[in-house]
Amino acid sequence: MSTGRVQFSSKLGVIAATVGSAVGLGNIWRFPYEAGTHGGGAFLLCYILFVFLIGVPTICAEFTMGRASRVGIPGAFRQGHKSRKWDVVGYFGILAAILILGFYAVVAGWTFEYIIESVLNAFKETTPEVRHEHFESFISGWRAVGWTILFLLVNALVLLGGVQKGIERVSNILMPLLFIILIAFCINSFFMPGFDQGITFLFHPDFSKLTPDVILSALGQAFFSLSLGMGCLITYSSYFSDRTPLVKTAFQIAFLDTLVAILAGVIIFPAVFSFGMSPAEGPTLVFEVLPGIFNLMPGGMVWSTLFFILLSVASLTSLISVSEIVVAFLSDEFKLSRIKATMLLTAFTVVTSTLCSLSFGPLRSLNLFNIFDYVSSNILMTLGGIGVCIFVGWKMRKCDSLEELHNKAGIPIWLYNTIMFIIKYLAPICITIVFIAGLI
Ligand code: TRP
Repeated sequence: MSTGRVQFSSKLGVIAATVGSAVGLGNIWRFPYEAGTHGGGAFLLCYILFVFLIGVPTICAEFTMGRASRVGIPGAFRQGHKSRKWDVVGYFGILAAILILGFYAVVAGWTFEYIIESVLNAFKETTPEVRHEHFESFISGWRAVGWTILFLLVNALVLLGGVQKGIERVSNILMPLLFIILIAFCINSFFMPGFDQGITFLFHPDFSKLTPDVILSALGQAFFSLSLGMGCLITYSSYFSDRTPLVKTAFQIAFLDTLVAILAGVIIFPAVFSFGMSPAEGPTLVFEVLPGIFNLMPGGMVWSTLFFILLSVASLTSLISVSEIVVAFLSDEFKLSRIKATMLLTAFTVVTSTLCSLSFGPLRSLNLFNIFDYVSSNILMTLGGIGVCIFVGWKMRKCDSLEELHNKAGIPIWLYNTIMFIIKYLAPICITIVFIAGLI
């Protein structure tokens, strides 16, 4: 199908933008604390299994929908049939995007504060209690709201640039930068006294730790990290050219995304063990424990600054991708210009994220931050994932998926059949089990 829709201009642009979406707070902030609280190696093993067994085929399903229809959601759910029944799955995705934007922007805003504090060397000679109190008082106040709004404005600037000059160009610059910083950290990690202990914790699976809870968290983490289940990759693939090999790109994203998560583990756990701290610290691991560790290292201020730059870069490219779902929706469905769509979304998100941010302070009783996180990650994304698989596996005409996955990209037919088998049966069943178990 040939439409006038803009496309990413190069192969590098496709990879940088999609990997930029996948690699984010999910890898560097969420993965280490999830692995840390769920027993390390056993969690990692499940996670990798889910990424490649279910994640990659589901990415292929989203790509198929996006490129075949060349629209975002919910439009992509209307192809090949007349009814609008499937729109509702698309609207779930839009809602999930709005909720994710609300809390993601808050944590992204924190990274700005921590860059500045690192530069000012504010963590020097602080005790864990002081850092804890500092973190708590910072996130509960209006300063955090200010940083969040600033982050949203930067996000809006990139969106205003459009798909090629905004998203693609920024990703092309920021993603290589992110990998360079990561590698510098890994080399540093190698020389830490706790290197062996950290590596053993991360890579040595202790199967006694393999509980249903660990398995559920691993699947949830895989979906969140791969940006699955809410139409993000549908939207991005609507900008792919006909030459983009969908299956190969899906593998590349999964590989690079997992690599970054593992590298984040290789960076954080040796440091945690070197300084006698606990890996099971939870969501504050990155913001409270790491500054303390940097503090004890030679050149700590530089490392600390670099680390929080890394985190903000990763968050920005992900936040852009979630925003693009809504921007594409507003321009596809309501024919709004890109400028209007971006401004509308940004104004709305400023309100929701302010409410989320204040739920660590004056609005504690409302606790929107946790509600947004829970509803989007645990309910909407899983339902969306099931919806995408059922749509591509059962509703879409076979000739369309054959065209997108087999003919255009040229993967062998056995691989096409395997992927379709997973999309039709294995993925929806597994996701459903996880969803139900998660609710219980
Ligand atoms: N994958 C990103 C991360 O790991 C977060 C993200 C971006 C996302 N786009 C998404 C999550 C779409 C779910 C759906 O931080």
